[in-house]
Amino acid sequence: MKTLTLADGRAYAFHEVGEGTPLLLLHGFPLSSESFWPQLEAPPKGFRLIVPDHRGFGASAQGPGPSTMEALASDALALLDALDVSAAVVGGVSMGGYASMALARLDPGRVRGLVLIDTQATADDEAGRARREAVAVDVTQHGVGGLVAGMIPRLLAAGTSEAVRTRVEALMLRQAPAAVAAASRGMALRSDSKDLLARFSGPTLVIVGAHDAITPLPKAKEMADVVSGAQLELVAEAGHLSNLEQPGAFKRLLEQFATRF
Ligand code: MLT
Repeated sequence: MKTLTLADGRAYAFHEVGEGTPLLLLHGFPLSSESFWPQLEAPPKGFRLIVPDHRGFGASAQGPGPSTMEALASDALALLDALDVSAAVVGGVSMGGYASMALARLDPGRVRGLVLIDTQATADDEAGRARREAVAVDVTQHGVGGLVAGMIPRLLAAGTSEAVRTRVEALMLRQAPAAVAAASRGMALRSDSKDLLARFSGPTLVIVGAHDAITPLPKAKEMADVVSGAQLELVAEAGHLSNLEQPGAFKRLLEQFATRF
């Protein structure tokens, strides 16, 4: 793992593995870059993976205020600058997908393609925003245990191995309450990205676990329907973390997608 010092002095940690077209991969909530462990261990052929920890998660320092999707995207853009990457394929799982769309909105010229994994283009409704605030308050007062206990049963497909389940749970439990609260508030502030996707003309791969209960197939279809020429792929025997639950199928999809650059 390497660390970049951002302009405001914050440490921003990232992995860089593999060779080929740069692929910035952004992790979900409340996880870290470690949630791409199969991809970091065996990078898909054709891609140079750039995988940061969002602010406050993993080994990256927290920033001020809510961690909006634009803030996560700005940090990632600063990393691309530091690595001299003028444009990358940009993708992410769930919250990482929200941040990918925010990045495409902030600086469309930097995005050669999109990989939208177990995510959605829609913003939260009022009830959803209230739930995000309740999560932020709960983790600040009581730690992340309650959030994790509530999320785990909905996160993974029933057949996912105990080893993956245990590692995901441990990874979530290690995340700092301040980071989790700030990201929960940041997700509540995100805008609807369908307009952005409708304007995007680069190659786009939409991946969804067949048993994703958090951002299910209709959410994936909605994104694939608005991007012209998007490829929609359903991963069997996977829930919300298809890259961890079915790493072999996930790798094949990325390797096939890499040939388009
Ligand atoms: C995630 O996996 O990043 C979260 O479930 C996203 C969300 O809560 O909307």
